[in-house]
Amino acid sequence: MTKEARALRELQERLRGCRECPLGDIGTQTVGGEGRGPLMLVGEAPGDHEDIQGRPFVGPAGRLLDSALERLGWPRETVYLTNAVKHFKFEMRGKRRIHKTPAQREIAACHHWLDEEIALLRPKAIVALGATAAASLLDRKVAVMRERGNWLVRGDGRPVLVTLHPSALLRLRGVEREEAIERWLEDLRRGTEPPPGI
Ligand code: URA
Repeated sequence: MTKEARALRELQERLRGCRECPLGDIGTQTVGGEGRGPLMLVGEAPGDHEDIQGRPFVGPAGRLLDSALERLGWPRETVYLTNAVKHFKFEMRGKRRIHKTPAQREIAACHHWLDEEIALLRPKAIVALGATAAASLLDRKVAVMRERGNWLVRGDGRPVLVTLHPSALLRLRGVEREEAIERWLEDLRRGTEPPPGI
């Protein structure tokens, strides 16, 4: 096992026991990142399916992301998938667990985990899927629709491209969804082409 793989495993083990915010006590388990490669894709937080399976992007949003990765010719295991927040946040509605957006303090509590993943994996480029990921990666509020598709720079100098979260596309229907997916694929495709010098 390489030094990097060992360090990543050690990080996952520490992450598993994380109780730095109350979300750690309500879900099934912590969901860390998976995959490897020069491109890191960051989502918001695990959902119901991810919480149960302990893997990122395995529910409906993950299926849309998988189909995008397939169309782009990027096998899932050749990118690193992770989230800004590592625990599922939800409220019960009857017997259903309904996703809730993590609060600022929960995003802040998880911030160091994402920073550690980045420091360890040293991705050439990072794609922020949605506003929570973008805010956590760039340490500021990001207007996704205005800033999507542009290369931005993190405090550590790494390039970040912001685009929509797949869940936002799942809320659309018909032609509108098809068109939005095409534009999303264009954004994602740019993720492998950070401008030189950034
Ligand atoms: N949404 C996310 O942001 N991340 C996941 O892992 C699943 C759904």
